[in-house]
Amino acid sequence: MPQPLIVANWKMHKTHLEALAWLQQFREVCQPSSARIVVAPPFTALESLATTLREQPLPFPLYLAAQNLHPEPNGAFTGEVSAPMLKALGVSYVILGHSERRQLFFESHTSIRLKMISALRHQLRPILCIGESAAIKAQGKTLDFLKGQLDGSLEGIEGLAKEDFSRLVIAYEPIWAIGSGIAAAPEAIEATHQSLRGYLIDRFGPSGSHIPLLYGGSLKAANAASILGQPSVNGALVGGASLDAGEFASIVAACG
Ligand code: PGA
Repeated sequence: MPQPLIVANWKMHKTHLEALAWLQQFREVCQPSSARIVVAPPFTALESLATTLREQPLPFPLYLAAQNLHPEPNGAFTGEVSAPMLKALGVSYVILGHSERRQLFFESHTSIRLKMISALRHQLRPILCIGESAAIKAQGKTLDFLKGQLDGSLEGIEGLAKEDFSRLVIAYEPIWAIGSGIAAAPEAIEATHQSLRGYLIDRFGPSGSHIPLLYGGSLKAANAASILGQPSVNGALVGGASLDAGEFASIVAACG
């Protein structure tokens, strides 16, 4: 399977100065591991981190991600940031369709799909987030719901060039686990990831077996090894626990 991918999602936390302090601490504590490490700070910290990483590289690569983008390359869209702007800063990944954006900012399947296509066309790697609410889980409809989210956001993706399509990453993040302190059980995550893998292979053929499937939702140092040790879990999207450089380094270390 692919190299494990560990992504820090800082959400709306840290000024650019606090981001640089985090990087300094991370530099001191993080050991090389098998994982590919990605940090998604707010837009305002991307340039500082990119510049510092260029001038004083870590002993291993650290990739940058944005937390959103606008699908158009430029135009009259006050307050928005486009894929070419991110690319020019040296950003490699972009988180799309996070449940907070779907719920708080009313992002639809259509808008997420347009953002995905823009990201792929501009050589960014989209991390498409999907996940069910507690109510959907209680009704036993999780898998249907997740497949519906994938159907909605992936429509037309097959039409892209294979080298574009191969940059896709998917993160399964049960909404009830995000920020709750209680992650999904490792066996339940494994079962869901196996079903998602089946869906991706049915939909995309052999290419579907190479799309990294991450887990997110209250993953922290204490539960990282048991979740990341599941055979169908290819990495993690880490919110709260990534804000502390030492805790995030321990999660990275859990990949071995
Ligand atoms: P959490 O957030 O790790 O704080 O639960 C994960 C996410 O929302 O990506």
